[in-house]
Amino acid sequence: MTKRLNVAFLPQLLVEEEIEGCDVIVTDVLRASTTIISSLKNGVRCVVPCATIEEAHETKRKLGPSALLGGERGGVIIAGFDAGNSPREFPSERVAGRTLVLCTTNGTVAMERCRKANRVFVGAFVNLSAIVEKIAGSSSVTILCAGTDRRVTSEDVLFAGAVAERLLELDAELELSDQAALARDAWRQAVLRLSSGERLASILGMGSGGRNLLRLGYDADIEFCADVDRFETVPMLNLDEWIIV
Ligand code: MLT
Repeated sequence: MTKRLNVAFLPQLLVEEEIEGCDVIVTDVLRASTTIISSLKNGVRCVVPCATIEEAHETKRKLGPSALLGGERGGVIIAGFDAGNSPREFPSERVAGRTLVLCTTNGTVAMERCRKANRVFVGAFVNLSAIVEKIAGSSSVTILCAGTDRRVTSEDVLFAGAVAERLLELDAELELSDQAALARDAWRQAVLRLSSGERLASILGMGSGGRNLLRLGYDADIEFCADVDRFETVPMLNLDEWIIV
C-alpha cells in the first residue's frame, strides 16, 4: 500500500536525494507521456528518451535506419526528424518492432532528474487506472510533472491530483505532501466541472501547453490525451540501459 505521495510541480523542484529508493511517475500529459504510452502499445520495441537534439541524432546514428527519430520544439516537428510528438503519428503499421528515439522540450528532459529513483514509470490520463494499480504497492511515490518551459502546467498537476485521489480511495491514511494535496484539490475542482458537463479535453486545452497545441491545430491530440484509460500499458524507464519499455 502506498504510504506517502509527493508531487514535484516541475523537474527543477524535485529534490533528487528524496527520490532515492522511491518510485517516480513522470508525466507530461500534453504530449510526451501520452505519446510514449501509445507508441509502446502500438508495438514500439523501446523508446530512447533524449534531452538534446544532438543526442537524439547521435543515438539514431548508432541505432541505424530502422530507428525512428521523433521530437518537437514548441510543439512543432524538429527539422530533419522522421516524426513530431503527436501520439497519432505512431500507429502500429509505422512503428511495430522499431526503436523510437524521442526528444521533446520538457518530457524527455524531465527523465534526467530521475536517475536516483528505484523505479520510474510513465503516466498520463490514457493509462490512469493502470498506473495507479502499478504503484499502489510502492510505499513512497513521487509524481514528477514535466511542466512547460520551466512553468507549472495545469494538465500535469491535474493528472497528479487524479492519481492522488485514486490512491486515497484505496487508503484514506495516505500521507500527502503539500504539493500532492494541492494537486488533489485542483483535481477535485476539475471533477466538479466535469460533473457539470465540461469535458476533460476542454479543461486540458486551457493551460498554456494546451493553448499552444490548439493554436497549432492539434485539437485531436488533446482529445487523444484526454481519453482516460484508453491503454493499460505502463511504460517503465530502465535506468541502466536508458530505454523505456
Ligand atoms: C514536451 O515534452 O515539452 C511536450 O510533450 C511538448 C509537446 O506537446 O509536444
